[in-house]
Amino acid sequence: MRLALRFVLPLVILLSLIAYGVVPLVDSLTFKWVVRDMDMRTKLIASTMQESLIVALANPINNRIQNIFNRAIQDERLYAVGFCDEQNSMSYKTQTFPEEISCMRSLAHSDTTTRIIKLPQGPIHLAFSPIESDGKKIGQLILVHDLSFAQRRSSDTKKYILYFFSALFFLVSLLTVLIAQLSLRGWMKGIRSLLRDKQLNSRQNKKVSPEIRPLENDLHRFILDLETDRRYRDEGQMSWTQWTLKDILHSELKGGEVLTVSNREPYIHVKQGKGIDIQYPASGLVTALEPVMRVCSGTWIAHGSGSADKESVDENDHIQVPPDDPTYQVRRVWLSKEEEDGYYYGFANEGIWALCHIAHVRPIFRSQDWAQYVRVNEKFANAVVEEAKTSDPIVLVQDYHFALLPKMIRQRLPRATIITFWHIPFPNPEIFGVCPWREEIIDGLLGSDILGFHTNFHCHNFLDSVTRFMEARIDKETSTISYQGNLTIVNNYPISLEYPVKWLNGQKPIQQCREHIRQAHGLPVDLLVGVGIDRLDYTKGILERFRAIERLLELEPQWVGKFTFIQVAAISRVFIDQYQHFGAEVRALKDQINHRFGHAGYEPIRLITEHQSPMHVYEYYRGADLCFVSSLHDGMNLVAKEFVAARDDEKGVLILSQFTGASRELLEALIINPYNIDQCAAALKLALEMPLEQQRKRMRSMRSFLQEFNVYRWAGRMLLDASKIRYRTRLYGDAKCKGAVIEPRLPL
Ligand code: G6P
Repeated sequence: MRLALRFVLPLVILLSLIAYGVVPLVDSLTFKWVVRDMDMRTKLIASTMQESLIVALANPINNRIQNIFNRAIQDERLYAVGFCDEQNSMSYKTQTFPEEISCMRSLAHSDTTTRIIKLPQGPIHLAFSPIESDGKKIGQLILVHDLSFAQRRSSDTKKYILYFFSALFFLVSLLTVLIAQLSLRGWMKGIRSLLRDKQLNSRQNKKVSPEIRPLENDLHRFILDLETDRRYRDEGQMSWTQWTLKDILHSELKGGEVLTVSNREPYIHVKQGKGIDIQYPASGLVTALEPVMRVCSGTWIAHGSGSADKESVDENDHIQVPPDDPTYQVRRVWLSKEEEDGYYYGFANEGIWALCHIAHVRPIFRSQDWAQYVRVNEKFANAVVEEAKTSDPIVLVQDYHFALLPKMIRQRLPRATIITFWHIPFPNPEIFGVCPWREEIIDGLLGSDILGFHTNFHCHNFLDSVTRFMEARIDKETSTISYQGNLTIVNNYPISLEYPVKWLNGQKPIQQCREHIRQAHGLPVDLLVGVGIDRLDYTKGILERFRAIERLLELEPQWVGKFTFIQVAAISRVFIDQYQHFGAEVRALKDQINHRFGHAGYEPIRLITEHQSPMHVYEYYRGADLCFVSSLHDGMNLVAKEFVAARDDEKGVLILSQFTGASRELLEALIINPYNIDQCAAALKLALEMPLEQQRKRMRSMRSFLQEFNVYRWAGRMLLDASKIRYRTRLYGDAKCKGAVIEPRLPL
């Protein structure tokens, strides 16, 4: 019934609107036709009467003229006839002649042949025809037609139009509802049979109706997700935990060896006076991966970038971590200054980083940097081989620093299961095509068994680039690329956090965090505080964020002195010009805004560029009233998720850029376009004034999402997919490794 109404209601509205417009149009057209008919008719009557009237006027005996007139009004529509002589006096007229019409009036309008006049008894049509004898005007004949029939005709027309539209509405509605019902039944049948087939894991390639074909893949994935979820969710648990991940490693992957490769290491040893400090880098990648490695054990291979890193490793460049309770080891790879400059600062961060983020910063590609990039990827590939204890380890390759690594590992360890995860956005082929080594990058990535992105959108961009630049076969149904004998499954795995986050252990209660951060910055206790936690990077939208704060204070001056924004911006990639310029711009804008709105003891923006430990960062999250994430483009953005994870009091408001992967998941945040400064200022106002109950509702919902979609699920889903690939590879023997092309219709 509701479905029928959904179709019928718009139809009623549309047809009523058409009828409403059509009725007056048809009415006026009909009236015009009637009048035109009448004009012609009166001319005809006047010319017919002319002859006999002239004769009768010359000899007006025996009521001759009256008789002519009376005969004429026998006609059903001719209502009255009159004659005005040269002196403008009505010398002859029928009894029916309306008193309102006089000769004076008629002669005064002698030019007008016809007129419509409304009399109390109804509208009449008047025609004035000059009567001429021997070329001399001897008077005027007045013909009066009754026009009430036109009114009757008009109301008849309205009635018929109404009947017509009612019939039309009835027929069209009937047909629409019928077609809708039939299509719906067809779709439901199709989806049901799809669900049945997928549940039974049927390989029969039944014909799926074209309307629901786009859903086929999504449905398949959805069912698999649900099944996996059901299978691996810990008993009595609502979500995946570290135990789920352990279970997958042992039962599905038979305790396979796990090696992770990333540029950034999870623990950095830095010289501090005479001692050594451990730093936790400001990196989303590390935040997500570290808890996973704690569960998987194995080896994490990364660049040893700390000033005391060399002093902290053993003779094999290993160090057991986490320092307080070691569960896995880090293998540090050393890079020369030239290597670091070319590979990390140059190709990875001036080239690919700028290329993949839509932040209007041009990528710079230099062939020397590319040479170092290739060289460092090779160095890490050799490190993987050195660390592998078996011939078929599971290698987790992380991010854009290692686009060539999957293929290099495949060449060295053909039986390895390689899962590559791209932590940043992947651009569309037009943008990606700018890179002079685009084919080499795709070629390298296609050495992976699984290639993961945060969002489906980035998966599609990658598939489009493969279509555009490579000779590869793509099975769209399973998102599998067959390239030079290797199969790569491209899938989206939105990254997340461990839940609950370990940095919450030992945190002070919320109230104390609030007091502490205000105290540390010399702020009044009742001041509202917003936080931004980022690396000092041009993709993070820090300038836009500051402009939004400025706009808020401009538009809502009551917040001057009542609200301060604390921006933690960890210095990052300092040897790149763009980053230095950006840092200077951020500082200048902060000073400008503070100068404009600040006064004794009050600064609207505080900027902290010193490295902050995760414990401190979480204190900021917990002590703030809002968190502002305004990235211009971001793969996921874990800061948004960290803020939500930190708020066990279910308070605080998250303002989140629509250009982050996180905005597709944290729907209860205030989603903004960072380029729309007024909108951001309005979001800030809304956040500052949001009632606690609403904050609670939003936060509760986001927290329950995070609890369920945590990082164990992210890693678990990838490892489960990997386990299926390992199983099949064994089933098919070494065909894949030898370069034979396997039929790519192997959905996971
Ligand atoms: C992003 C990248 C990571 C990187 C992090 C920090 O999240 O995807 O790979 O580790 O930024 O950048 P950095 O250059 O300091 O490692």
